[in-house]
Amino acid sequence: MKVNIGITEKNRQAVAAALNQLLADEHVLYNKTRNYHWSVEGPSFMEFHKLYEKQYTQLAEIIDEIAERIRTLGHFAEGRLKELLKLSSLPEPPAPTDQVEQIANLETDHETIIVKLRKLIRDFEAKYKDVGSMDFTTGLLKQHEKMAWMLRSYLR
Ligand SMILES: [Fe+2]
Repeated sequence: MKVNIGITEKNRQAVAAALNQLLADEHVLYNKTRNYHWSVEGPSFMEFHKLYEKQYTQLAEIIDEIAERIRTLGHFAEGRLKELLKLSSLPEPPAPTDQVEQIANLETDHETIIVKLRKLIRDFEAKYKDVGSMDFTTGLLKQHEKMAWMLRSYLR
């Protein structure tokens, strides 16, 4: 069935491609956060173990929402890990066990995503006339800002 929701095919295609890139970054950050959940060491082990679990659970939900938004636009979400890695721009350094280093890495990744989201929000509205995706990504922006704040609060 043709998707007839008042957005041109060309624009839906462009939004879906941008969302697939975002999906890739979210996958890398999800995996990194989960890896740190396993590898963290130190006196506050349980504090960070739990914090990371809370955040990767939220990231898993975000991943699902982005994939379903892409489907809503009539396109397919990238689901292959190799392809996702090609699309993502987030670094994957070997997992540190040090809490401060872990928190700094995750906080930087959230900030990278936040800066990218700001551009997407502008483009979705102004360039592609997709107010639904603009609203959707604005919601994601606020979630990432809050997660970044929580991580940043440990760094001072
Ligand atoms: Fe666990």
